[in-house]
Amino acid sequence: MKHIIGATIIVIILTVLVGVLLNTLGLLPDVASLQGRYIDDLFQVHTWIIAFLFALIIGFMLYSIVAFRRKDGDESDADHIEGNNKLEITWTVIPLITVLSVAAIGANTLSKVTAMDPQALEIKVVGQQWAWRFEYPEAGVVSDVLMMPEGQQALLLMESADVIHSFWVPEFRVKQDLVPGITTEVRITPTELGDYTVRCAEVCGLQHTNMLADVKVVTVSEFDSWLASESAVADDPVARGQKVYEQYGCKACHSLDGAQLVGPTFLGSYGRTVTLEDGTTVVADENYLYQSIVDPNSQIVQGFAPAMPQNYSEQLSDEQISDVIAFIKTIKPEEK
Ligand code: CUA
Repeated sequence: MKHIIGATIIVIILTVLVGVLLNTLGLLPDVASLQGRYIDDLFQVHTWIIAFLFALIIGFMLYSIVAFRRKDGDESDADHIEGNNKLEITWTVIPLITVLSVAAIGANTLSKVTAMDPQALEIKVVGQQWAWRFEYPEAGVVSDVLMMPEGQQALLLMESADVIHSFWVPEFRVKQDLVPGITTEVRITPTELGDYTVRCAEVCGLQHTNMLADVKVVTVSEFDSWLASESAVADDPVARGQKVYEQYGCKACHSLDGAQLVGPTFLGSYGRTVTLEDGTTVVADENYLYQSIVDPNSQIVQGFAPAMPQNYSEQLSDEQISDVIAFIKTIKPEEK
């Protein structure tokens, strides 16, 4: 009896030490979704069970090593024990109840994590080697950043364009594969404003480790105004063209205010008569602008170096190029 009490005390102390240690190590990043909180609760149950099992085995072992050491000069055999029904039933029934309880808690957690909100915001997620694309079908918006309103459940409907990928934002805890040919789904209710990163959690080829995308959790009103402005962009060739101008580096060399940078300014460039290097003059119409984008060196404006990248016909779709031209056409000197 004295041995049982001694070993039990060691087991309790070890359980508390290991349990507290596991829970203070910060094994997981700060949780940022409602579903993540349920998962963390479950995780905590598991860390305590792990701490107890570790303590049970190590505690009894350490106690036995000390308490039941062979004394000097003791040559006798140990007691021979032919099984113990009570002990065997106990160590079968207790783990059985434990495992069934964990299964019940797990099932309950799963139902909370997958609980549907009929008001959920649908976002289509497309994974491909090696990028993410996010579509907001109701607003007709496509984005390379996943914007999510805080406190509102998002239903991500996910498709892969090629191989299996896996959507994972560690702070949201939930993870879901994207499988070619079917649509998988995951529900996330962000609870913390901030910037996160989606990473692909399924080895999907050479650039797998770089298959990242930004996630921004913003307030509902910020989200609504973002969606409205993106949706206005999506419907307007000039606004789309302006985005290309800003995102594809045009901005670095072509000013909108007449300032002379590496390349000619876009101010008033449409319809202007330009003198080329060889002295000939051309009118900068749509064809000229198109040609200047896809094959810039074919018609260098006098006074400028042939510095423009040659690969815009690969970088931009025809639609993007015509959007840029539509944008350039609007950059006119103010009429006074
Ligand atoms: Cu996609 Cu790894």
